[in-house]
Amino acid sequence: MTTLFSQDAPQALLENRKILVVDDEEPIRRLIGYLLQTHGYTVTLAADAREARQLLDKEPYALMLCDVNMPGESGMDLVRTILEEHPHTASIMVTGLDSSVLANAALDMGAFGYIVKPFEMNEVLIDVANALRRRKLEIENRFHREHLEDLVRTRTMALQQALEWLERSEKELRLSREETIQRLAIAAEFRDHSTAQHIHRMSHYCELLAKKHGLSPEHCDLIRTASPMHDIGKIGTPDQVLLKPGKFTAEEFDVISQHAEIGYKILSGSDSDLLKVAATIAWTHHERYDGTGYPRKLKGENIPIEGRIAAIADNFDALTTARVYKPAFDFAHARSLMLKERGTQFDPELLDLFLSCEEDLRRIHDHYADNPANQELPNVA
Ligand SMILES: [Fe+2]
Repeated sequence: MTTLFSQDAPQALLENRKILVVDDEEPIRRLIGYLLQTHGYTVTLAADAREARQLLDKEPYALMLCDVNMPGESGMDLVRTILEEHPHTASIMVTGLDSSVLANAALDMGAFGYIVKPFEMNEVLIDVANALRRRKLEIENRFHREHLEDLVRTRTMALQQALEWLERSEKELRLSREETIQRLAIAAEFRDHSTAQHIHRMSHYCELLAKKHGLSPEHCDLIRTASPMHDIGKIGTPDQVLLKPGKFTAEEFDVISQHAEIGYKILSGSDSDLLKVAATIAWTHHERYDGTGYPRKLKGENIPIEGRIAAIADNFDALTTARVYKPAFDFAHARSLMLKERGTQFDPELLDLFLSCEEDLRRIHDHYADNPANQELPNVA
């Protein structure tokens, strides 16, 4: 939309006292011109519509007094187009025909007044003064309205920019939080030569199963973001146990089992939903459905859903990728091994759901495959 005023209505526009008198009858236009000039107005005379247009195109007029009946273009047509082309020029119709229909048509069109010939001098002066006063008010009103529209537009734009900035900041904060979590988790995993890719696969397997189980999108997202921290407690496991090749003794198993408890202690006590879920997963991802897991021997659905999901995802990844003590098993082998633990180690319904998503599992497995080129953190966006 074109803004007519930038800040203030120009004084020159408001105080313009130039009047154009358009009448094909010379005595009439001279009479009106003389009358107005003697009362302080600057008057220009035009004999027809064509001349009037030329004058209006050259300089701004505050008011046009226009005869209705003229040879060529009528006064009504002239006023109609002038109102559109020169919105700051007010118009008063002058006619020898005293017709209410004509008067109403002129006023409806936007003329400010209607003078019938013969007229009283005072009548013309009063109508001119009223028209100029109304013109000034309308210009000021238009200015205020447009100024207000400008202000609303500017404020709306500022608000939109602020919201965009806030959205960008929130996204940046979320990404940096996720990346920090992943890097910390990777640091813990590196202690026993696990790969960065393990935590990516694990978190995406967890998210997949959470979605299949019908958890809310927010809950699925929390599980995906929190699950990389499932083994964070390994930072409290001594190297000689953590890095020991071969089987653990019972004492060593006790030591390594403590990583679930240590992880919980590291992550618990926060008001953050993310850390609460992370603490739950760290604490319960080694529980078994039959109640023989650790650290608390929780059984069945007493094991939080996040822990039951993480147990399946973690074990599936361990089976389908190479470890120092074993080669990578193919999916069919991993499936049969996990099905042997259906209802003992794993929640049977969750396991069935998980194994029914082979295509998605392969996609995640292949996307985050263990190879040197994939050791860099992928973009988490
Ligand atoms: Fe673990």
